[in-house]
Amino acid sequence: MNTITVSAPGNLMLFGEHAVVYSRPCLVTAVDQRMKATVEVLDTEEFQLEAPDVKVTGYKKSIKALGQGDIPKGAKFVEIALKNIAEKRQLVTGLKITTNSEFSSQFGFGSSSASTVCTIKAVSELLGLNLSQKDIFDLAYKTVLDIQGKGSGFDVAAAVYGGILHFITGGAFIEPLGVTALPLIVGYTGVKADTVTLINQVKSTSETYPEIIEKIYNTIEDIVLIAKDALLAQDWQRVGELMNMNQGFLSALGVSTKKLEEMIYAVRDAGGYGAKLSGAGGGDCIIALSPDDKRKAVADAITQADGEVIQTMANAEGVRIES
Ligand code: MEV
Repeated sequence: MNTITVSAPGNLMLFGEHAVVYSRPCLVTAVDQRMKATVEVLDTEEFQLEAPDVKVTGYKKSIKALGQGDIPKGAKFVEIALKNIAEKRQLVTGLKITTNSEFSSQFGFGSSSASTVCTIKAVSELLGLNLSQKDIFDLAYKTVLDIQGKGSGFDVAAAVYGGILHFITGGAFIEPLGVTALPLIVGYTGVKADTVTLINQVKSTSETYPEIIEKIYNTIEDIVLIAKDALLAQDWQRVGELMNMNQGFLSALGVSTKKLEEMIYAVRDAGGYGAKLSGAGGGDCIIALSPDDKRKAVADAITQADGEVIQTMANAEGVRIES
């Protein structure tokens, strides 16, 4: 075998963002928009990358120089993933990697973690490294931390395992939930958020008000655990109400924005059960739940609030071989 194509899903945070960076749980779903990576064995000792979605074309260097020199932003996750594999198992051959995404890297669906997981899974299969799902998670999470310095790894877990997960920081606990349906409505703000900036902003607030922020994290943990039961019971009204509560605490952490709030209130006014921002905040997407007969009104309300409704299905399959 000289070539392999794998795909991994994007993800949306359902409950627990920010608190999950500090040893609390979260709930995350993999979504059916996928990242694809094709890896080919080369007969030169080169690493080549084509990632047109993030404006990387014709990028090449020696596999001995992985991680060295100036690395374009769009090449970082794939290159450092490969470097981390090479540190564990010697790479004796050059590789050409081509990535293609079904979703914009602007949405905050976790394109970086999905491309990292794709790279590791594809190289593992192609070179017979036999990496388990947990090995892939560990290597991909290390890659994210090497680049960003921060992050809980929830997005990496969603890309590897798929489904809807109860996840605790760093993969200390990863439990797939048997939730089969989750009729989410997703609205994009049109604003790209920078996760690390927002994590740092919340950290600085928590240094000013440690006793308050700790209590907020603890309450978010309670919301996550109650929401898990509500999800398992498919009690969408309760899940929606808990979304609203979680949103209140995200607002208190300072990561909501006027645009996010306008979209969230539009959903609530149109008869939705509830809505919240999803991810780091500052922009990216909102998620909402609504009764079936209000879905159209809710979607229209998001559009009227100047958001873009993104058609997406929750509970998608984790990383898989395509061909
Ligand atoms: C970002 O999508 C979610 C955060 O909780 C960061 C993380 O968990 O890595 C803010």
